Amino acid sequence: MSTLYTNIGELTTNDARLGDASAMGRLYNAALVEEGGRVAWVGRASDAPPADQRVDCAGAAVLPGFVDSHTHLVFAGDRVDEFVARMAGSPYDGGGIASTIAATRAASREELLRASLSRAGALLAGGVTTLEVKSGYDLTLDGEVRLLELAGALTEETTFLGAHALAPEFDDRDEYVGFVAGAMTTACAPHARWADVFCDRGAFSVDEARHVLSSARDAGLELRLHGGQLANVGAVGLAVEMDCASVDHCTHVSEHDLAALAGSSTVATLLPGAEFSTRSAYPDARRFLDAGVTLALATDCNPGTSYVTSMGFVIALAVREMGLSPDEALYGATRGGAVALRRDDIGHLGLGARADLIVLDAPRAAYLAYRPGSNLVRTTVRSS
Ligand code: NIG
Ligand code: FE
Repeated sequence: MSTLYTNIGELTTNDARLGDASAMGRLYNAALVEEGGRVAWVGRASDAPPADQRVDCAGAAVLPGFVDSHTHLVFAGDRVDEFVARMAGSPYDGGGIASTIAATRAASREELLRASLSRAGALLAGGVTTLEVKSGYDLTLDGEVRLLELAGALTEETTFLGAHALAPEFDDRDEYVGFVAGAMTTACAPHARWADVFCDRGAFSVDEARHVLSSARDAGLELRLHGGQLANVGAVGLAVEMDCASVDHCTHVSEHDLAALAGSSTVATLLPGAEFSTRSAYPDARRFLDAGVTLALATDCNPGTSYVTSMGFVIALAVREMGLSPDEALYGATRGGAVALRRDDIGHLGLGARADLIVLDAPRAAYLAYRPGSNLVRTTVRSS
């Protein structure tokens, strides 16, 4: 079974071998053929080969599906009062995580699944075709396994985040870090692809994070890291040292950090929804690009710092508040996210890629930043 998408006004492939030979690999008046879930042909609409089905895009923009490489989708309850207090001037310090842990522990599997599916549905409707989902709102051994099982119902990109906060049962942090790096990692590793640690002021130190990540790697997990959200405690250096696929937030980074990232295969994932929802200063994304760092953009969907389920909103924020061009932001939300997940089959529409794509209700991808606040995604196509 093959499908021809034709009359595409502007096709973004993110493959520099196609179209205008820019990083965006752009074609106009274009067509794309999907066969067996993969991109089988890309070119001018007038040259398109026949296919079993035909979708007339009527001049709309088509682009790769968004890759949301950082979410905390599985949780119960909300933190709207905390948000309201923040908008009145209270700072964010991570302390609210405890209230989400209490609500999540109290929720049934069915409640958690229903709430998570609803958020995943919102992401999909907004064009997300691949998402990463973390645990981290239970912090008991069985509870973290339960959250990872639920995450596994949503995606293959599941992340063990037992080191999200100190579990309320523990007074001794060394004891908790040892537990996470030991028994909890052993129990959770079969249910996760990745491990992550919240390495920041008031969370876990670089040495604690190194300990947890090393055990995770020994257990067969790949690595990523939360770093530089609240302060620069050296998380970026650790991420590079441990060859993490990505270090996420990067609100506080030094020039030295940027140089280290540029010479590494670690992506910097920026999460502008977190700055928005904590009323914090946004990082200057131009600094990263000028230094040669690979950028990704993600929602960080969580109840505390970024209850955001729209990659379109994230792109608009990155353009308006972080200094990216609409194309740079789009690339970060697609191919950048794919690199942050060490995937080369998604995030682009080159030949052989997964045919995960978005048909916009707009003639150009730049409308995502130009017309913020409405969902411009007409159709999300996710190949199975
Ligand atoms: O990415 N920073 C750590 N984790 C989340 C927020 C957690 C929370 O406040 O519930 C984040 O921003
Ligand atoms: Fe996060």
